[in-house]
Amino acid sequence: MNIRVLTIFPTFFSSCLGEGLLGKAADKGLVNVAAVNLRDYATGRHRPVDDVPYGGGAGMVMKVDVWAKAIEAARRELPGARVVLLTPQGPKLDEQTALRLARETSLVFCCGRYEGVDERVAEHLVDEWLSIGDFVLTGGEPAALAAIDAIARKLPGVIGKAESVETDTFTAGLKHPAYTRPPEFRGWRVPEVLLGGNHAAIEDWRRRESLARTARLRPDLAAGAAASRVRLAVRDPEPWLLEPLAAAGRAYGLREVVCAVVDPDRRRALRETAGDLVKVTGPLDAALRKRPKERLFHLADRPGPGQAPLAEIAARLAAATDGATIVWGGEPPRKAVSAAPALPGEAASPLALFVWLERLFSGR
Ligand SMILES: C[S@@+](CC[C@H](N)C(=O)[O-])C[C@H]1O[C@@H](n2cnc3c(N)ncnc32)[C@H](O)[C@@H]1O
Repeated sequence: MNIRVLTIFPTFFSSCLGEGLLGKAADKGLVNVAAVNLRDYATGRHRPVDDVPYGGGAGMVMKVDVWAKAIEAARRELPGARVVLLTPQGPKLDEQTALRLARETSLVFCCGRYEGVDERVAEHLVDEWLSIGDFVLTGGEPAALAAIDAIARKLPGVIGKAESVETDTFTAGLKHPAYTRPPEFRGWRVPEVLLGGNHAAIEDWRRRESLARTARLRPDLAAGAAASRVRLAVRDPEPWLLEPLAAAGRAYGLREVVCAVVDPDRRRALRETAGDLVKVTGPLDAALRKRPKERLFHLADRPGPGQAPLAEIAARLAAATDGATIVWGGEPPRKAVSAAPALPGEAASPLALFVWLERLFSGR
């Protein structure tokens, strides 16, 4: 991939691009980044790239004629290149954007300074705008660097193990925590499960940690995480429970919260307050029959002898979240639940339900 950065500070890039994996990628010929001095396209003794704004006001504005010459020269050098303007007003850089831009053969990044570029540059000369976050930098160079780094690590061969890119944070929520030797430092121990050689248990733990972190730290990503195929079914919930159920559903990235209500009058009343995520249906058996055949886990009202410990069930559920339905309250639906494990009875109250969900998704 060929990348050109148009900037008034070309030396800004020299040290960082030569270091680490980006430096190695350049050595291997996987990515070729060159910073081009915008002043080379300015005319006059002092080669000015900026001027005072029309209408007055603070700061200087970068000149459209200088940018036009620089961008057009870059397009001639790299035919088909996508030209990106760094600006805090653009869409925010994320993994999808990095992946999309990594599929281009050439990119040109335009770094503004001062009050930014003349609007005609933004409107007519570039292909898209890009921001690296809701804050204002003094110039586009650090933003270009961040974008180049994020894009380059998506290129085949740049990161040693493709697996590490595929399982990174944002692929499916936040990634699980990682540890290395020693197993204990100042009394802080590495989780026991990682020290044993049980790979299935380690995978289980990692998946639960990843779900828990996502739900706790970035609930906005939880819907995209692995938990999003989990459906919760509740029998005859009290009306006040609908709102917390919806909140829990959003926080844990549940696909749907089915509230099965037998009485038609209660059902009508509840439907008026239910949101998108919460579906108020008729009797549970019928509601579940209409949904795809999925794993069913029944949350029993009372604890019974011989029930598996909570942690074990939570681990099994978290590993099996692909299309699981968790039924809470009342008797198990006769046919569907026959092969599914009963969950501990401590979830007999609404509060306990949330404690249970919290534990399920946080692995505590
Ligand atoms: C001081 S900023 C100009 C801000 C501009 N006056 C505004 O309020 O939108 C100077 C340059 O820094 C770059 N820049 C600042 N913040 C950025 C961000 N969050 N993402 C990308 N580029 C940014 C842009 O290239 C911009 O032209």
